[in-house]
Amino acid sequence: MGLLAGLTTTRAIRRYRDEPVPAEALRAILFAATRAPSGSNRQPFRFVVLADGPNADAAKRLVGDAARRIWQTKQHTDGYDRADAEPASPRARLARTMRHYVDTFEQVPVLILPCLVRYREPTLMEGASVYPACQNLLLAARALGYGGALTGFGLAVDAELRALLDVPEGTVIAGAITLGRPAGQHGPVRRRPLAELVYGETWGEAPAWAIDPPGTTFTAAGPPNATETRSVPGPDAGAGTAG
Ligand SMILES: Cc1cc2nc3c(=O)[nH]c(=O)nc-3n(C[C@H](O)[C@H](O)[C@H](O)COP(=O)(O)O)c2cc1C
Repeated sequence: MGLLAGLTTTRAIRRYRDEPVPAEALRAILFAATRAPSGSNRQPFRFVVLADGPNADAAKRLVGDAARRIWQTKQHTDGYDRADAEPASPRARLARTMRHYVDTFEQVPVLILPCLVRYREPTLMEGASVYPACQNLLLAARALGYGGALTGFGLAVDAELRALLDVPEGTVIAGAITLGRPAGQHGPVRRRPLAELVYGETWGEAPAWAIDPPGTTFTAAGPPNATETRSVPGPDAGAGTAG
């Protein structure tokens, strides 16, 4: 798969086959992650890779408990629990996928905690020295037939994770990534049309060239409270169980 194809088709994958990720695959994926850019090339990213072992089990349990609590609330506040009326809709599929994801979190093959070693007061830019590495990780996983999701589920149990894993003071746990061999279909990436997101000379006015490739599949921004998913049929417009 080419670079452009990989990065325009990579999705959050939350259903995994019950198989481990071999060391060679982890090596390649983490190598790609650690080739990411960072400010002044300080390379402040660190990755705690938790597959099996007592700390991995404990971390998955901590993050899994947090994920279940968070999803319990979010499905109401963001309107996912109203998805039952249209069981074939993308939002209903996402609700089912999320339920399965959080309910079986302890079984995710690998949990990775991307961390950032701080060297100065927090700034907006500091995230740009760890999240590109996370995206490299997810892209490399896709290239090798794996998939993953970056989540914020670990934030709720930050203190517990730090204590469990001896994360030093001054180092931030920036997320919780799950990784494994995808189960089910890999549906299309859905985003807003290019012309809604890219402007030219004037804010809000798209350049003439801002036209999506044929077959692009769209969706409104954010959770389903407000708007319906729109779709332009295309060659890749399959049913997604991934996200
Ligand atoms: C900053 C950030 C935070 C995210 N947090 C979560 C999360 O807590 N739980 C989760 O299941 N997915 C999380 N995701 C994944 C997004 O939900 C997902 O990328 C988005 O809905 C687009 O779906 P797609 O990747 O399938 O196209 C997060 C992604 C980003 C970039």
